[in-house]
Amino acid sequence: MPLVTTKEMFAKAYEGGYAIGAFNVNNMEIVQGITEAAMLERSPVILQVSAGARKYARHNYIMKLVEAAVLETGLPIALHLDHGDSFEICRSCVDGGFTSVMIDGSKYGFEENIALTKQVVEYAHARGVTVEGELGKLAGIEDDVNVADADAQFTNPAEVEEFVSRTGVDSLAIAIGTSHGAYKFKPGQKPQLRFDILEKIQQRLPGFPIVLHGSSSVPQEYVEMVNKYGGSMPDAIGIPEEMLRQASKMAVCKINIDSDLRLCMTAAVRKHLAEHPEHFDPRQYLADGREAICSIVRHKIRDVLGSSNAI
Ligand code: G3H
Ligand code: 13P
Ligand code: ZN
Repeated sequence: MPLVTTKEMFAKAYEGGYAIGAFNVNNMEIVQGITEAAMLERSPVILQVSAGARKYARHNYIMKLVEAAVLETGLPIALHLDHGDSFEICRSCVDGGFTSVMIDGSKYGFEENIALTKQVVEYAHARGVTVEGELGKLAGIEDDVNVADADAQFTNPAEVEEFVSRTGVDSLAIAIGTSHGAYKFKPGQKPQLRFDILEKIQQRLPGFPIVLHGSSSVPQEYVEMVNKYGGSMPDAIGIPEEMLRQASKMAVCKINIDSDLRLCMTAAVRKHLAEHPEHFDPRQYLADGREAICSIVRHKIRDVLGSSNAI
């Protein structure tokens, strides 16, 4: 099976009450760990590439790594641009073989976001590529916003129908309290997601796939492992997995996870090197990193996203 778009994946996920994991990839071990997990769980998967990852690994290496994963696993895999911030990068990924792109116009005003997103949709759809847009702003604790500002950043349900109909996007990323990175909440702050906003959006866009960014859970066991083996990660707090499970049963069809993979890979490599200070062959410690990725992705697919046996 060649690379697929997200269209059919999302239609089935919506119907089935589960979400597809969108995991960020930067190198071979990460691609292998994720796709091995998806194969073991018989789950479709989205491999997504940020502008930074594309710069780090380079476009052709990414393409060939992902094509190799398709050949090896036979899985439905979509290759997606994460957080495209311009028409040009989206066009370059569409032309270069990606099957899905995100145009993130969330930093612009409503009209400007619509104009940019529509331009990408017209280009991508003419070439059979699906497009994710974003409405609302994901906040981080480092932004130090007050409650009124935070409310203003959540997606406004009253705007979603107009945004989707005027742009023609295939899916919509929304802001309901998730944020990027490992430090999503202040120490002592109770993690919360605005399910009331998600429900309103779902009512206004029945059957339409919603995307959650910033959905790492930051498992404490990995934070402790990093710290035990020489790292320093104080008070890292993520989104509780039961909240993501709940969102997956609703209109959320794509859940983005990057930080958890970085965390567990780093924990495994640190542990390996601490326990085997004599090792200097990268295959030895990277194999442990890859194994850790496979194990956390299997857990996400089975226990959080609910997409096991969806193919
Ligand atoms: O949302 C961003 C992703 O975690 C990718 O991060 O830009 O550091 O590759 P990056
Ligand atoms: P996390 O930092 O929570 O893993 O979010 C990743 C993401 O949203 C990539 O687009
Ligand atoms: Zn994101």
